[in-house]
Amino acid sequence: MIEMLAGSRVLVVGGSSGIGEATALAFAQSGAEVTIASRSQEKLAAAMGRLRDSLACSAPNAGIASHVLDVRDEAGVAKFCEGWGAFDHVVISASQTRGGSVRSLALEHAYEAMNSKFWGAYRVARAVNIRERGSLTFISGFLSVRPGPSVLLGAINAALDALARGMALELAPMKVRVNSVSPGLIATPLWAGLDTAARSAMQQKAATTLPARAMGQASDVANAVLYLAATPYATGSTVLVDGGGSIA
Ligand SMILES: NC(=O)c1ccc[n+]([C@@H]2O[C@H](COP(=O)([O-])OP(=O)(O)OC[C@H]3O[C@@H](n4cnc5c(N)ncnc54)[C@H](OP(=O)(O)O)[C@@H]3O)[C@@H](O)[C@H]2O)c1
Repeated sequence: MIEMLAGSRVLVVGGSSGIGEATALAFAQSGAEVTIASRSQEKLAAAMGRLRDSLACSAPNAGIASHVLDVRDEAGVAKFCEGWGAFDHVVISASQTRGGSVRSLALEHAYEAMNSKFWGAYRVARAVNIRERGSLTFISGFLSVRPGPSVLLGAINAALDALARGMALELAPMKVRVNSVSPGLIATPLWAGLDTAARSAMQQKAATTLPARAMGQASDVANAVLYLAATPYATGSTVLVDGGGSIA
């Protein structure tokens, strides 16, 4: 896997935190040249510091760069995609969404969630330049198959999985593969808004109810992304990394 990715040019949108950051690290450790993008310059700078620290021993010469990008900004996405040239592998992990039941979530917040996670990924997927034999990977989520407290998020994730399958056919003539990775409950800063008691209750529930008996780590999801990027026969796939959550 490592040899296939060495020297490749990789973009991770949403790479300043959680799953995106772990994915950026895994690509860089495989010898790829990685650009992370997200909205906040501060978060990008902090992530670059953590990545450099992590790479200091394993890959001190790794090429990592960052760029401020908001996937909700159509013109900004188009400008970035034009200016940064072609990538071998692109991963889209960016999103900020509010949860809630269909009847309780304000429509305005529902539209915002769709604009961030679905339309954001769609904008990048539509504009980004990917080289022959390259790949595009969306990060969706297991709520698509196992409805939870946020039905809308499940619908957005299902839409991303469908987008991956459809684009895998559309981009096949260009020899570009398209897939999605669908995580379950993963310990990332996404949950930082919960208080300590709620976080610990979530971990406890995962430890007792999930077949994997724990919450997942961002590196678990990164492993699946790298598998898809480095496997020439993988396209149109959705890889679940959910600790068995969809069957529990
Ligand atoms: N963690 C889980 O349990 C879990 C489970 C299933 C699915 N997922 C999905 O996995 C993906 C990554 O989640 P995570 O847990 O890694 O969350 P996270 O730690 O909160 O990371 C989200 C990333 O997206 C970026 N981002 C947010 N809005 C953006 C925008 N408009 N434009 C560009 N970048 C934006 C954030 O950086 P800035 O704030 O700097 O923009 C950050 O880098 C999400 O799509 C999430 O729905 C997560």
